[in-house]
Amino acid sequence: MEYYQHPLDVTQLASWKALQEHRKAMQNFRMRDAFAADPQRFSQFSLSSSGLFLDYSKNLITEQTRELLVNLAREAGLEGAIRTLFDGAYVNSSEHRPALHTALRRPVGDSVQIDGQDIMPEVHRVLNQMTALVTRIHNGLWRGYTEKPITDVVNIGIGGSFLGPQLVSEALVPFTQRGVRCHYLANIDGSEFREVTSKLAADTTLFIVSSKSFGTLETLKNAQAARAWCLAQGCPEPELHKHFIAVSSNVKMAVEFGIAEENIFPMWDWVGGRYSLWSAIGLPIALAIGMSNFKDLLAGAYAMDQHFTSAPFEENMPVLLGLLGVWYGNFWGATSHAILPYDHHLRNFVKHLQQLDMESNGKSVRQDGSPVSMETGPVIWGGVGCNGQHAYHQLLHQGTQLIPGDFIVPVVSHNPVADHQQWLYANCLSQSQALMLGKTREEAEAELREKGLGEAEIAKLAPHKVIPGNRPSNTLVLERISPRRLGALVALYEHKVFVQSVIWGINCFDQWGVELGKELGKDVYQHIIGRSEGKADDGSTQGLIDYFRGRHRG
Ligand code: F6P
Repeated sequence: MEYYQHPLDVTQLASWKALQEHRKAMQNFRMRDAFAADPQRFSQFSLSSSGLFLDYSKNLITEQTRELLVNLAREAGLEGAIRTLFDGAYVNSSEHRPALHTALRRPVGDSVQIDGQDIMPEVHRVLNQMTALVTRIHNGLWRGYTEKPITDVVNIGIGGSFLGPQLVSEALVPFTQRGVRCHYLANIDGSEFREVTSKLAADTTLFIVSSKSFGTLETLKNAQAARAWCLAQGCPEPELHKHFIAVSSNVKMAVEFGIAEENIFPMWDWVGGRYSLWSAIGLPIALAIGMSNFKDLLAGAYAMDQHFTSAPFEENMPVLLGLLGVWYGNFWGATSHAILPYDHHLRNFVKHLQQLDMESNGKSVRQDGSPVSMETGPVIWGGVGCNGQHAYHQLLHQGTQLIPGDFIVPVVSHNPVADHQQWLYANCLSQSQALMLGKTREEAEAELREKGLGEAEIAKLAPHKVIPGNRPSNTLVLERISPRRLGALVALYEHKVFVQSVIWGINCFDQWGVELGKELGKDVYQHIIGRSEGKADDGSTQGLIDYFRGRHRG
């Protein structure tokens, strides 16, 4: 199958050079002046798609900037790259596979081929298998070893087998059905295991061992601990199969672990972990919100896929967000990007995007193995508003770094309390406004004068009160959080990450860096339990091993 081909060095393209020149010309561009000069700026730089409204007018851009960025996308071959992604080409070249998460949300009747084989019948067969399980559990037909129905589901998984499902099931809490409670067990930390299991009864609990590889240490250790916990709680060994199901592409390992083959939901190597919430890895989501809502989630993502594949780049939300990130990262020196959702239900969005973006675009070589000649993925950070305003927003307003950010806010709350939603929305808007407008020296001095301060005092205080402003942000507005809009929102960021990877020429679907830590972890563990002769490879690690061994009890 065709591999995606990229021009060798994007920094040599005419469009890149034009952007460098344009950046110089933009040195003194002030957004507040641009707004004052152009009453159409908001409508020029905003658009709607798939239930999302994006205002990107508070950016350091002009129409020319947009045009030049779009030229870059064209010259870098983005159009062809999108086609190869959706068509199942081997875009993940270092692992020799396609990345077809988009197939997971396609409707019945569509066809997607991998090496001549249509994968869509299998995708829909698994969706039906999920429906059957969800129906059995919701109707109390799946019984535990004491014949009681299942009341609690624990998803044991980490990384993509955790963050996406957790984000979505929490974001869609208002859509929760029939009282099956979902819990997440990710870390190997025993405290997390105790915290989760202490609230549960084994006879009414179902564990989903969610691991594409079925080889992830944290997940396997937690699955073993869950097994031991069930037995200790009184579950007879032959009945354990009533309390464990798995989602994995490694059926052999899952069976060896003791999970009945008919209780193993398939995963495919053509779906990356961080792109997998749309597959059976999304089972805890479906159990929480029901299959019909899960399908709406897929439909929302599909709507965004269609927008991404068909809208002209100038009006294409993921393309524009991706290009704006390139603009700041490669031409303005930004090294991080803030995600600022103003909704309690989206409080875990940052964690999901951290994996999605940083595991995807934290790369230093191009698809062909040659080193990149520009910065690639930024640090993704942030958190829920208004809380962030009373913590780290200070650095956004007056720190020395330029940090672009995305504000995300719904218009309607699922839980209206007095006028809180109006205040929440107002806070979100006023933050992006303050970042953009800032406060000039003259304004700061005038304020102090109005308060009756003397000139000497004003001269002392004014520098502290000046806010540089001109700090860029996007604002994404959803009318109300729903499965469809959330699906579109998550897919929007998946595609944004892909757009950037194409510009940088990197593979956003592998994660070799993570592997080294896993390998070294096994070696260090052997030293810690005293099974390794010789010393660790460095003095610091050996010293810390000795410290542990000298003090650890039990
Ligand atoms: O930690 C890296 C990683 O490989 C992620 O990419 C993946 O989502 C996670 O581990 C979990 O992997 P698995 O689903 O195979 O257990």
